[in-house]
Amino acid sequence: MNSTAPLLETLQDMEPARDDFLGSVVEGLNAPQKHLHCKFLYDEEGSHLFDDICELPEYYPTRTEIGILESHAPDIASVIGPRAQIVEFGSGAGIKIRLLLSALTDPVAYMPVEISREHLLAASANLASDFPALRIAPVCADYTQPFTLPDLESETPANIAGFFPGSTIGNFTRDEAVKFLALTRRLLGRDATMIIGIDLVKDIDTLRAAYNDTKGVTAAFNLNFLKRINRELDADFDLAAFEHDARWNPELERIEMHLVSKTDQTVTIGENRFAFRKGETIHTESSHKYRIKGFRALAREAGYEPERVWTDERNYFSVHALRAV
Ligand code: AVJ
Repeated sequence: MNSTAPLLETLQDMEPARDDFLGSVVEGLNAPQKHLHCKFLYDEEGSHLFDDICELPEYYPTRTEIGILESHAPDIASVIGPRAQIVEFGSGAGIKIRLLLSALTDPVAYMPVEISREHLLAASANLASDFPALRIAPVCADYTQPFTLPDLESETPANIAGFFPGSTIGNFTRDEAVKFLALTRRLLGRDATMIIGIDLVKDIDTLRAAYNDTKGVTAAFNLNFLKRINRELDADFDLAAFEHDARWNPELERIEMHLVSKTDQTVTIGENRFAFRKGETIHTESSHKYRIKGFRALAREAGYEPERVWTDERNYFSVHALRAV
């Protein structure tokens, strides 16, 4: 169909062994504060619902970050330098990487690292047809675990940059975020640039509204977790007996999504039974917010020197350029 394929390298496949979904769910629901791991929110339906969240009027992060990238792309590109190799952690809808690649001078290669193979291959093929001169080397891996980058052999990029937009690092606790950044620092090597999107602490009403939208899309995204457990783990969650709530935790400066039990009830998952009191919650996701100073201190702990920061005029969101030292 199109003949741009030669520059699309074969997939480097380090797809992790299928997670023990049942084990993780049972362990989380046996804890005093019941919880589920947010990575399991993103099955096919969950991923679509997340795409819908990004379009919501209340969900400011996506469009604010795109605005920052649009306004400052030339500046960001000059911090990275010419003939760069870009490593993206996760591969989203592709708008953000297109903005970056279009601003760069003669980018050499693009390596998206993504756990979902279908998503990765579709996004890579799409990009290959828009950037025919770019070598695209997809890596299927869990980027929170150590992995290696494909060898480009003949090509030696002049510059290496990591790209981690979306404030996805907000899902990690601060300790986990330091560990993750230190891992990227080792992977990218000395002098590399890291371009990372960080959502900022702001007034609580704006934060709460972003995770409690009026159309109920975020509620559907959260409740889809129970739907997935019912379908994949032979469970009998009554979706009408739980409701979505997103709370601001002021000590930890994070939004927490919970599923609140509306009644006293018992749920069966395979052989396991779990009792819920009325009002008891399952914590399903955290979204940590940062202050610019605080994030820069965290980056230093991980072996980066903060070099530049770009924000929007309301100071809702920030994009940082960090230098690996
Ligand atoms: C994909 C983790 C950046 O925390 O804002 C959005 C996920 N959850 N609405 C976020 C999410 C509910 C999102 N991240």
